[in-house]
Amino acid sequence: MARENFASGKTAIMAMAGSAIGLGNIWRFPYMVGQNGGATFVLIYLFCVLLLCLPIFIAESTIGRCSGSNTFGAMAKLAPGTKWKWIGLLTVITPLIILSYYSVVGGWSVDYMLKSVISGFSSDAPEYFGRFTSSVWKPLIFHTIFLSLTCIIVLRGVKAGIEKFNKASLPLLFILIVAIAVYSMTLPGASEGIAYMLKPDFSSLSARSFAYAMGQGFFSLSIGVGAILTYSSYMKKDESLIGSAAGTAIFDLMFAVIAGLAVMPAVFAAGIEPGAGPGLIFETLPYIFSQMAEEAPLLSRVVSICFFVTIVFAALTSSISLVEVGVSYLAEEHGYSRRKAVLVIFSIAWTLGAVCSLSFGPLAGVKLFGLSAFSFCDVLTSNFLITFGSLLFVIFVGWKMDRELVRNEITNGGTLPFACRVFKPLYFMIRYVAPVVLVAIFLTNFML
Ligand code: PHE
Repeated sequence: MARENFASGKTAIMAMAGSAIGLGNIWRFPYMVGQNGGATFVLIYLFCVLLLCLPIFIAESTIGRCSGSNTFGAMAKLAPGTKWKWIGLLTVITPLIILSYYSVVGGWSVDYMLKSVISGFSSDAPEYFGRFTSSVWKPLIFHTIFLSLTCIIVLRGVKAGIEKFNKASLPLLFILIVAIAVYSMTLPGASEGIAYMLKPDFSSLSARSFAYAMGQGFFSLSIGVGAILTYSSYMKKDESLIGSAAGTAIFDLMFAVIAGLAVMPAVFAAGIEPGAGPGLIFETLPYIFSQMAEEAPLLSRVVSICFFVTIVFAALTSSISLVEVGVSYLAEEHGYSRRKAVLVIFSIAWTLGAVCSLSFGPLAGVKLFGLSAFSFCDVLTSNFLITFGSLLFVIFVGWKMDRELVRNEITNGGTLPFACRVFKPLYFMIRYVAPVVLVAIFLTNFML
């Protein structure tokens, strides 16, 4: 089967930014900022993404484009006869686990989107969330809907499905989130929330916020799970790897900060504690929308619809990249048709996702290491597998691949002047700094 490519560098960036921008930006980032000291966390996050996550992103991308293969095939091709390919297999499994619980939250978002269209929220929104997530059928049905939508897009292929969907969604996402942020920042009492996002208070700096910021950076940039590797394998040879990595990181950062500016000022304006945690988006915000509805019902409805449409589309552009990792593996290594590969991924992710979904209700008592199935999958991937995957990628590029081959890939055979200039420090970061930092984070995560 002939391999497809993204049409241009621009569409490759859009696909990668689509993968990067997701629930991580709108759901996780604002509450992490809320729990970890506001603007100081934003600053640490900026530093982590630009200095540490970016080289790791470029390393993963290098493996993908150089091999032109799925995660397993890439390792088999670049390190033939070694055990590295099994590591490629690990990065087929990680995205599957993420996809499972991601699709559950994606399903909640679809429900909230429909609810904002059909009835709007009432002041019992926080209770609604508990009732809804702990019920059996409704979240399962929405998990199924979300996963099916994702799979339908992937089924259409790299160009007609993934590329086209991202190209249409990304501008929409930015327009919507900017509009919501502008609205939120003009609410009376919003200025405290803006200051909270933008004015650092260094007394809240801690080692923990650093580890969290790195973890959030990996998750948000989709690093370490093979999604960037797979998308990069669809990039043409004359595109710049550094350019696409930087473009993706900038879009992702901008989106996270704007999403924070959309959420925090509204939270402060409503006089609510910002450190509400994971429930911030699904409990606090709907409550705020219901309060707004008392004075401006129409406007509140429009804003809440825009908000949940943004979440659903952002989640979809990410989940398709998670599906594509497994699909490209099954199609290329086992000769599956795209349809069969998508069906297999759907079945596995649906089943594991169903267990995650039920772990809020009937299966709440079933614990793994003291965690519910949902939290277990989240902690296992976010704290361990993503860091481990990233570590293996940087070791592979820094220590296993031939330096000249890496240089050739990153500088496009020496034809990209900027890439040539920064190659040396970049390689140093990939070979020495990144592995040390990753091991440190891995160990910190064990202790946290
Ligand atoms: N980056 C996505 C987000 O922020 C999540 C994701 C992780 C997607 C890993 C693909 C791979 O929501």
